[in-house]
Amino acid sequence: MPRQIYTIDDAQRRAKSRLPKMLYDFIAGASGDESLHDKNSQALNEVRLMPRVLRNISKRSLSCQILGLEADYPFGFAPMGMTNLAWPGADKFMAKEASQRRIPLCVSTASSSTLEQIIADADGYAWFQLYADQSPDFVDELVSRAEAANYSTLIFTVDVPIPSVRTRDLKNGFAMPMHWGPSQIWDFASHPRWTLATLAYSIRNGLPKPMNYATSSQKTKFIRKASRDAADWGFLSKLRDKWRGKLIIKGVQCPEDAIRIKAMGADAIYVSNHGGRQLNAAPVSIHSLTQIRQAVGHDMPLIFDSGIRSGEHVIKAIALGADFVMLGRLVMFGLGSGGATGLSNILDVIADEASAVMGLIGQTQVSDIDEYCLASSHGYLSSQDMQRSVAE
Ligand SMILES: Cc1cc2nc3c(=O)[nH]c(=O)nc-3n(C[C@H](O)[C@H](O)[C@H](O)COP(=O)(O)O)c2cc1C
Repeated sequence: MPRQIYTIDDAQRRAKSRLPKMLYDFIAGASGDESLHDKNSQALNEVRLMPRVLRNISKRSLSCQILGLEADYPFGFAPMGMTNLAWPGADKFMAKEASQRRIPLCVSTASSSTLEQIIADADGYAWFQLYADQSPDFVDELVSRAEAANYSTLIFTVDVPIPSVRTRDLKNGFAMPMHWGPSQIWDFASHPRWTLATLAYSIRNGLPKPMNYATSSQKTKFIRKASRDAADWGFLSKLRDKWRGKLIIKGVQCPEDAIRIKAMGADAIYVSNHGGRQLNAAPVSIHSLTQIRQAVGHDMPLIFDSGIRSGEHVIKAIALGADFVMLGRLVMFGLGSGGATGLSNILDVIADEASAVMGLIGQTQVSDIDEYCLASSHGYLSSQDMQRSVAE
């Protein structure tokens, strides 16, 4: 079959036509006027890298090390709840890719399959993401389950103390558990490709639902609008004492918070504004990354997401201080554009471009990419910088 996906935009367009509108909007949407979502990627586009010439770059490797994991690529799967809504069986496809490409799959608290099933499917290439959900007993149980299932790494997400206002979801009446009315039924009926595939999958596996909740002994229900405000500094301190594996704190944007988190013994900080899905007025994620790198120094691993839409973006984030990059919506667009094939396609697109960009800036190893690869570190001014300096 001729290849149909060359860019994330290609995948996004196909996903948009195949998925019921309310699901596409749930994935693509953000909070408020969604301007932060756009700015995240625009800011990455603005970064300039310096081409370097006459270097032997014939043997390039994208492999890198993050928190003791030898990964074949400098990127992994960001935690995303209910991935099976993007395509039935998505969890399995992602687990297979994680194992084959030796990259971490971050398993959401609200994953569509159980955390035990996913780490088994991923041959161990999985990290567990924790929300401090309503019930402390449920949260305790999740941490114990993750330990029993041999997760090496826990990601504690801290940027969702309360749900944000996502206008698209409100307009579409999108909720979990699902509300069914005429417009929702019409939406599903008018996207038969996704709906029939999901029906066939559900007959064998049951309707998509957050399985860590469904299998909990605490009978805790997944309520999307529930507050997660139990996540405070005291909670983090107790979690650090309880969890003996690697601990990553996700959703950090303020340098002062980052310094405190480092002092409390976290193993890595995950700089993210949730892809613009939480505080729309927050700083652009790549700007937070550079500030946090300055604040915590070079001995603290930083993981980065929000706005990554190409392999070029991955290399830029590393040049600006990230040790590892996570892929969010683009994974969902890959899945929605063509299930397992779409996902694999999109990961190839990112990897091929990252490798090409790396060669064009004269680098052969991910560990050698740093701020010296930025055009600005060679005295180059971008057109924006020039306009600013002329104005000043
Ligand atoms: C559909 C969807 C579900 C998400 N669910 C979670 C989640 O359960 N836990 C979490 O920490 N982050 C969640 N996120 C945020 C992602 O982990 C990531 O921070 C974000 O998608 C990065 O931005 P990007 O999509 O612009 O790359 C979700 C994002 C999306 C798009």
